Amino acid sequence: MKSQTNIIIPEREIKNEETNQQFLKDVLEGLHENPKHLQSKYFYDKRGDKLFQEIMAMPEYYLTRCEMDIFQNKTAEIAAVIRSEDTPFDLIELGAGDASKSLHLLQYLDKQNTDFTYMPIDISGNILSVLEKKLKNNIPYLDIKCLEGEYFEMLDKAAKLSSRRKVVLFLGSNIGNMELEEAYDFCRELRKKLNKGDVVLIGFDLKKEPNTILNAYNDPKGITALFNLNLLDRINKELKANFIVEQFEHYQTYDPLTGTCKSYLISLEDQKVTIDSEDFLFIKDEAVYMEVSQKFSIDDTENMACKSGFKPIGSIMDSKEWFIDAFWLAD
Ligand code: AVJ
Repeated sequence: MKSQTNIIIPEREIKNEETNQQFLKDVLEGLHENPKHLQSKYFYDKRGDKLFQEIMAMPEYYLTRCEMDIFQNKTAEIAAVIRSEDTPFDLIELGAGDASKSLHLLQYLDKQNTDFTYMPIDISGNILSVLEKKLKNNIPYLDIKCLEGEYFEMLDKAAKLSSRRKVVLFLGSNIGNMELEEAYDFCRELRKKLNKGDVVLIGFDLKKEPNTILNAYNDPKGITALFNLNLLDRINKELKANFIVEQFEHYQTYDPLTGTCKSYLISLEDQKVTIDSEDFLFIKDEAVYMEVSQKFSIDDTENMACKSGFKPIGSIMDSKEWFIDAFWLAD
């Protein structure tokens, strides 16, 4: 037995230890399921972040450019909806990242002398400090409060910080990464955190010509494949596992009837993988379900709004009409 000593562990380390435990638990649980499943929220370690940046720069990955088109060229329309109720507000962004899209809106609101506080929420404190510096340079008088943590916890915090009306941005079709039931639960939970009159601006990738969608997730250079396979590397590194990454292959599907785009890793051989001293068997051609990127019709988005306590009050499309940012009023 080790002797008890009073070592003070810095808070950040405790947090990392906890998140690692959760990661391990989720990976083991997912691989005990049939079919096996890994969660795409774990794609984003340092290399995953970098690969996702590369994905966003690919010609096939139209999503980022479509939503950028909206924020660059329809800024006045967005601002008009946000300011239709002419009172000061908190502009909260869920998963702000580098805020490259919302930057255009922030600059516009600033020029119009709008009274608002920008509150980016992200689980990465690192990203937030970079973002804060960048915004201070671009918009010197911007009132900004960074909130580091989980979305819903930080929404509670935002409500405590101020009682002003809230405008919440949830961009990038990130909602597409949730199973449909999960997405509904998420919206209902979001509604609970808001007050009547608050507004949500939420990005949805639309159903479109199926090959366009499939190509965005099945790029010829195989960057998306690396992005998926990187999770196996991450599990090896962080959870003491021994995946042989070369023995798995990325496989992408898109179902034009349901709008469901899914990625899998296929085991190329019968193989055994040990994770934290637990053994898992993968048979040849077995599929591990990795990620869903759901696509929506405009009706789908409006139904989701209504069924989760919001009223759809307008939407803005990019010039190709491939992507939509929808305004939902909490009513
Ligand atoms: C970050 C959820 C918007 O699903 O389109 C990109 C992630 N996965 N290529 C998406 C992703 C594969 C992306 N989102």
